[in-house]
Amino acid sequence: MFISKLSKLGACTVQKYIKAAPMDSMSRKAHFSLGEYQNSLALMLKRFSTTAADNAFEKKDEEQKRISVTFVDQDGDEKHIKVPVGMSMLEAAHENDVELEGACEASLACSTCHVIVMDVDYYNKLEEPTDEENDMLDLAFGLSETSRLGCQIIANPDIDGIRLAIPSATRNFAVDGYKPKPH
Ligand code: FES
Repeated sequence: MFISKLSKLGACTVQKYIKAAPMDSMSRKAHFSLGEYQNSLALMLKRFSTTAADNAFEKKDEEQKRISVTFVDQDGDEKHIKVPVGMSMLEAAHENDVELEGACEASLACSTCHVIVMDVDYYNKLEEPTDEENDMLDLAFGLSETSRLGCQIIANPDIDGIRLAIPSATRNFAVDGYKPKPH
C-alpha cells in the first residue's frame, strides 16, 4: 500500500514538472531526461515493491509450513515452539532444548521418548501407532490412553496447537542388545 502510494506520488510529481516546462529545445532535452527518469523511477519502485511482496509472501509461506507445539514438563512448565511440517516431535524437542530423551534415536527400540498427548482430539488426529510403537509403549513408564512415542509423531498441519506432556520418568534399557549412546 505504502509503496503503491509512493509510486503514484513520484509519477504525479514528475508529470506536473513536465507539464510546467516550456517546450523549447532546452526543455525538450529536459523533457526527454525527465521521461527517462520517470521510467527509471517507475521501474525501480516496481522492482522494490515486487521484492517486498515476494519476501512477505515467502515469510508467510514459511510460517504456514510450521505448526505450534507446546511441551509441558514434569513441573507443569510449558514451552511453546514452532515445528516445521515433517519434523518429529523428538527432533523438535532436541532442537529447542526440551528435555525429552531419545535413547535409540528414533529406531523404535526404546520408550524414552514417551509423551502424553494432552487433548484426546489431537490424539485422534494422529496416525495409528504401528505394532512396533505399541510394543515399545507397553514398556513405557506411566502409560496413558493418549500415550505416544515422540519420535513417531510427525508435525503436520492437522496437529497445529498440539500439547504434549513429558512423563515424570522414563524407562531406559537396552532392547534386543541395543546399546544407547551416552547423551
Ligand atoms: Fe527410541 Fe523413540 S527414541 S523409540
